[in-house]
Amino acid sequence: MKPNLLDYINQYKEVIQKEFNHCLENMDIPQQLKSSMLYSLEAGGKRLRPVLLIASYQAYQNEVSKVISTAAALEMVHTYSLIHDDLPAMDDDDYRRGKLTNHKAFNEATAILAGDALLTYSFELITNDPSLSDREKVTIIKMLASCSGPSGMVGGQILDMEAENQPVSLDAMERIHALKTGELLKFAIYTGAYLGKATEEQLAHLKTFAYYLGLIFQVQDDILDVTGEQEKLGKPVGSDEGNRKSTYPKLLGVAGAVEQKEKYAIKAKESLMKAGAQDSYLMDLTDYFSTRDH
Ligand code: IPE
Ligand code: IPE
Ligand code: MG
Ligand code: MG
Ligand code: MG
Repeated sequence: MKPNLLDYINQYKEVIQKEFNHCLENMDIPQQLKSSMLYSLEAGGKRLRPVLLIASYQAYQNEVSKVISTAAALEMVHTYSLIHDDLPAMDDDDYRRGKLTNHKAFNEATAILAGDALLTYSFELITNDPSLSDREKVTIIKMLASCSGPSGMVGGQILDMEAENQPVSLDAMERIHALKTGELLKFAIYTGAYLGKATEEQLAHLKTFAYYLGLIFQVQDDILDVTGEQEKLGKPVGSDEGNRKSTYPKLLGVAGAVEQKEKYAIKAKESLMKAGAQDSYLMDLTDYFSTRDH
């Protein structure tokens, strides 16, 4: 029988944490940088992106050791994105993952450098993985660069900034969310399935799935910024209102945002079925992403 989703998540959370410790603890790098990188990596993120990557791989193959470094690399890029997202020049938040943000616990310059280090080290980690062929490494690195860079997460972050204090259309919001959040989820889903040897047709359906899953994830993040509890979230509520962000609840109201999220969930599940992955944890994760309270 398939273990329940929370057990599945917890199982791989531990595997990913071990991979971080293994990578970083013996690295000969400046102590302050290592402490600052580990501080955010060990702060207790939900690890949903690595779990998503592993689940996507397991929709097609069993042996997960092939994807662990890549999954850890993705969580490093995500963690870097959060460290920079919280900086005073960006969202200016003081709490993340239930602890002081990196720049509050260390200082701004160290936080910027810890982010830079996590981003660049993620690529090194992929190149060091003996279970990947050179061809697989190049494909994965290209995808990670494109999903996290100017045409991916970073592009979305600047659009998000430019949309502060502005009325935006639903189309424009979808673009912002798809880039700032959806692209890293796309990396997780695409790369897991690619390494699992999914067919071109399955990969195309999974890209559509990832697009809607990204929207669901960020709509829920926006809703929780209004209706969530700081103790559960580990980060402040009301940050978006304080920064005059364009969000789904602001555009549609909370009830409208929930309705919109449900429409995205139907589309996401349709694509998942077309990809032949309806019995995998990707299905359970879709519901979890949509209803999570932290
Ligand atoms: C927060 O992501 C940033 C968004 C893209 C909305 P998560 O909610 O996955 O944060 P952690 O990793 O669990 O801290
Ligand atoms: C940021 O979105 C997503 C990233 C690319 C880091 P938010 O600014 O809404 O994320 P939180 O709410 O601070 O986690
Ligand atoms: Mg932000
Ligand atoms: Mg933020
Ligand atoms: Mg948010």
